[in-house]
Amino acid sequence: MLISVIRISGSILVNHWFTLEEAMIIVTGATGRLGSKIVEKLLDHVPAETVGVSVRDPDKAAALTARGVRARAGDFTDPATLDHAFEGAGQVLVVSAAIRGPQAAGANKVAIDAAVRAGASRVLYTSHQVASPGSLFDPGRQHASTEKHLAEQDIAHTALRHGFYASTFELYAPAALRTGELRLPADGPVSWTAHADLAEADVIALTRPGALDGVTPPLTGPELLDFADVARILSEVTGRTITRVVVDDEEWKAAVTAQGMPAAAAEFTLGMFRAARAGEFAVTTRLWKTCSDGRRSQRVRLSRTSCSSRSPPVVEARPRCGHGVRRVGLTR
Ligand SMILES: NC(=O)c1ccc[n+]([C@@H]2O[C@H](COP(=O)([O-])OP(=O)(O)OC[C@H]3O[C@@H](n4cnc5c(N)ncnc54)[C@H](OP(=O)(O)O)[C@@H]3O)[C@@H](O)[C@H]2O)c1
Repeated sequence: MLISVIRISGSILVNHWFTLEEAMIIVTGATGRLGSKIVEKLLDHVPAETVGVSVRDPDKAAALTARGVRARAGDFTDPATLDHAFEGAGQVLVVSAAIRGPQAAGANKVAIDAAVRAGASRVLYTSHQVASPGSLFDPGRQHASTEKHLAEQDIAHTALRHGFYASTFELYAPAALRTGELRLPADGPVSWTAHADLAEADVIALTRPGALDGVTPPLTGPELLDFADVARILSEVTGRTITRVVVDDEEWKAAVTAQGMPAAAAEFTLGMFRAARAGEFAVTTRLWKTCSDGRRSQRVRLSRTSCSSRSPPVVEARPRCGHGVRRVGLTR
């Protein structure tokens, strides 16, 4: 069976013909926050019958199945399931599994190995802007180890170095709105990045040959914000004074573990603050320029949508990649 896929190359529409096997794109984690956005955007570019999703519970992907997407069960901790889920893959996008600690790299390597076994011609992996064996943030070390494994495969590959998810704010905003204080350890500037924009970059990598090969530059939002900036913006959009209070690391850890956070999770989070203080996240890339032809102008504006303290705001940095507008804002 031949599939026609129309792609944009510069300003020209190009019609490519593929066999189903060549065209098949498998996306893992497609019922997660990032993966679902990737698949949604991917379906704007390629026919549904060329898309397969590997998810732990295919029932949760019923809406995709109804649109013609193939949904199969795949768990990174059970390699045999991945052999079935990745069958017939041309490209596999491995969305890193939500697993913490040393098991994270192990699980993601299992998925990469399964993609190679399935005969994929290219494997893509969602890495992190701080992927480095020396990162103070544990996921940075896990991603570096996984990237190394990916590079060792005799196969075309892309490590998509994602910026830090802006959705992380959502962990801290509710308490700040409740108490009027953003009490966190000392931090540093971070180029917070929206899921939607990373999904768009990932889809460009999947659908534009040669657009993002190898290890990408950091794919980040355009603006650096620290938690003092976040407190200021929260104050502006709510009309309430939210004060940024810097808490000693150990004092913060004692407070959150007393509230029930496991010590390992608190230590994991402290790694983020230590890395931020060391400037690991203080890198912005012109994502628009990286993943497009860069002809459109970029613009940064802060959305001043009001939000109430009753319903915590969803906070997203939204540098739009592909639509010429970048927005960093707080929305509800
Ligand atoms: N760049 C950043 O700042 C940043 C921040 C946080 C996390 N991350 C990474 O980015 C990934 C996607 O983030 P997200 O916001 O979409 O997270 P999310 O909504 O929590 O989704 C997590 C995904 O991990 C999958 N998963 C968990 N255990 C798995 C396993 N054993 N085998 C296969 N898949 C497994 C889940 O699969 P199911 O849908 O099948 O349950 C889900 O799709 C995370 O998993 C994490 O590795 C990056």
